[in-house]
Formats: sequence, structure tokens, C-alpha cells
Amino acid sequence: MDEIRSTYSDRLDFYGRQGPRDLADEYATPLYVYNEKILRQRCRSLMALSNHVGFGVNYSVKANSNPALLQIIREEGLVVDAMSPGELCMDEMAGFEPQKILYISNNNGPAEMLHAIAHGVLLSVDSLSQLELFGSLNPGGRVLVRLNPGIGAGHHAKVVTAGKATKFGINLDNLPEVLDLLKKYELELCGINQHIGSLFMQPDAYLEAAKALLEIAATLPKDRLHRMEIIDFGGGFGIPYHKYAEEARLDMTALGSGLHKLISAFSSEHGYQGRFLVEPGRYVVAECGILLGSVTATKENAGIHYVGTDLGFNTLMRPVLYDSFHDFEIYGGHSQAARPSTPIKQTIVGNICESGDILAKDRELPQILVGDILGVLDAGAYGFSMASNYNQRFLPAEVLIGIDGQARLIRRRQTLDDLKICLEGLN
Ligand code: LLP
Repeated sequence: MDEIRSTYSDRLDFYGRQGPRDLADEYATPLYVYNEKILRQRCRSLMALSNHVGFGVNYSVKANSNPALLQIIREEGLVVDAMSPGELCMDEMAGFEPQKILYISNNNGPAEMLHAIAHGVLLSVDSLSQLELFGSLNPGGRVLVRLNPGIGAGHHAKVVTAGKATKFGINLDNLPEVLDLLKKYELELCGINQHIGSLFMQPDAYLEAAKALLEIAATLPKDRLHRMEIIDFGGGFGIPYHKYAEEARLDMTALGSGLHKLISAFSSEHGYQGRFLVEPGRYVVAECGILLGSVTATKENAGIHYVGTDLGFNTLMRPVLYDSFHDFEIYGGHSQAARPSTPIKQTIVGNICESGDILAKDRELPQILVGDILGVLDAGAYGFSMASNYNQRFLPAEVLIGIDGQARLIRRRQTLDDLKICLEGLN
């Protein structure tokens, strides 16, 4: 093989029957490639966190909402959330029953709320004013309330979603008003939920927040608690992005046993018979995805060695938005040009008209040449789902490597016609 750096994907047999270059040749780049076996493994390790009868995993589809992946996730026994009509549509396309979908709303207008209500999904609201709106639109309805336990965690300030000052959740001081609104509109409180932030690598903060949510649940009027169906602790489960440095994984055994103890004790102490959900997005899909891109140019500017690719931040936004690290693999080009044997510092950039369009700065890697294909690891979560048409570039295609090792297209690349479609019929 002419692969320059590929031991990680080789070990997993990630690409199955075809190599990354074959995929790039057949489907072009940028291309998201997903591996079904890895996806199923991650689903299973989450489902095994607890064997408590009420325990379940609610996949947060914002991480990746391709219906082909959602269908696999459904087969593995997970349920899903949605937070927009588009996500709800993807969930339904994948065969999830609306009654099992949790609509985690944030600042919804009446039209969107009515849409969710009409689809028969359970809605979670996260402010008093949204609870008031829900009550006025759907008196006598069933609702969840998203609380802010005052504990936040995450890999970047932009993804910490609890703690006193965030836009999410209802602060605990407002619980009396919540109860008043429930009464005013005769609403059934069918659950409480929270999400403290994204990407924790140690279980402690999550378990602490789960404990805090259970303590709040214990303060609810007994009749309300007994009728409640869902206590949802949120997501945030991290994955090790530094694959070639063999970064340690999140300790799922410690997380599972901590969680199991908490929920078992709560159930027996309070006679609660509903469900306990965790709500991971990234953990389910990040590692089953690799983004393939083509190296189109190299240059030296002011001592910086630039590697130009077709992987602009319209395709993968995480490095630009959060300074996120993704590891790279390098699949050799058609040309067998000689490369220096020692790694050099390279700055990998995309094809977007902004100087901040940088995937990796001064990254020490084997020298990358024009014609190489790059594999950006752990791109399955918040990759395609955050991609955009910036610079009027097309959304990339997605392929899935099935259990049999065979690749199949699960979303075609956009075309000029897709860009024109919203303009049709206008002056
Ligand atoms: N539940 C709620 C209510 C959420 O807002 C989120 C993520 C999740 C669950 C799933 O979180 P996860 O398990 O994936 O960490 N774009 C960022 C992550 C933003 C997460 C937003 N909310 C990134 O690429 O790191």
C-alpha cells in the first residue's frame, strides 16, 4: 500500500473492501465516510451502561442526522431527540415513532411548537416564557421541563450549557413558578431533563449533575413525581480525539456503575417507575466517521508550510469554531514522489475565502504532497451536521461502509441545481 499514515484505520479495517483512494475516486471529495460496525459498537457500549429496567439511551441527533445512520441506531434500541422540524423529519424518515421522540426545544416560536405538538412528540421547554407559550397552545398537554442544575462542563466555553449564566434551562429558584404554570394550564409534567455541556472525559461532573437532578426530582410534589415518565441527564460523553497519541478513553465502566447506583437508589427510595435517559450525541457517531479530502496545493509563506485542501470550514467547522483537534491520516497520491523520512510542521487549510480557514496549525506530520488524500479522523459528530453552503460550495456526499465491508452512498453531493432550487420562480 502507498498509505503514509494509516495505522489507526488499518487496525479497524475502517474502509472495508475498498481503500480510501477508491472511495475518493468513485465519490469525489470532500466525502464523509462512516463505518457501521463502529457505530453499532458505540451504541452497544452506551446501552450497557446500566441494566436498570428504566434505563435508556436517547441519541442526540444534532451530532449527525443522516437517516441511514439513524436507522442503525434505532435497530440498536436507542431512542432519539429532535430540536427542529428538520431533525424531527430525519427521525421520522428513519422509522422512529413520534411518541418516542423527545423534542428538546430552545426559544421556539408558536409555529414550531405547534408543529411539534401536531407530530405528537413530547416537548421539553427551557424557560418560564416557553412553558407559558406551550400551556397557552396546548392546555392540558404533557410537557418536560429542562432544568439548569448550576453545574456546567465541556471542551470549550461555547459548548458549556449549564452553570448559572448560560441561555439554557430553568434555574432552580424558578421551580415554584414552574409548578404554578403547570397548574394554570393543567399541564402534566411528564419529565425533567438537563444537559450540562459537551465533551467530558472524566465521569465526575456528569455524575454530580445527575445526582443534583435526582435531588431536585425528590423535591417535587409526590403525586407529580410518581406520574413522571422521564428523567433525562443529558449528553456530553467525550471521545479521545488524539488517536495517534493514544489518548485515554472515557471510563464507561466507572460512568456506568456510578449512574446505575444513583438511579437504582433513587427508584427504590422514591418508588419512581419511569425511565432514566442519557442523551449522548458525539459518543454515538464521532468515531464511526472519517472525512476524506484532497490535497490540491502546497506553499511556503513566511516560513509556514501550507497544505491546501478542499476541506474548507464549510465542510468541517469544529477546528475553526472551537480550535478543536482532529487527527489526520495521509493516503499517498498516485505519484510516488519521494518524501523526507522525518515529519515536518504543516498548516492544513481549506478552500474558503477566509484566512482563518485552518484545519490544523503547525501540525507535525509526514510531508503531505499534492494529490494525497487526507482522512480527518473522528469526523462523524458535528461534521456534516454543521456543514454549510458558505462560498456557495456544495454540501458533501456521505457513504456508509456496511458490516459486509461494502460502501454505499447514503447522501449524494449537492449540485448547482440544489443551490438554485430555493430561487426558482422568484423575480
Ligand atoms: N442534549 C442536548 C440538549 C444538547 O444540547 C446536546 C448538544 C446533546 C444532548 C449532545 O451532546 P454531546 O453528547 O454530543 O456532547 N458542536 C459542538 C458540540 C455542541 C453540542 C450541542 N449540544 C462540537 O462540535 O463539539
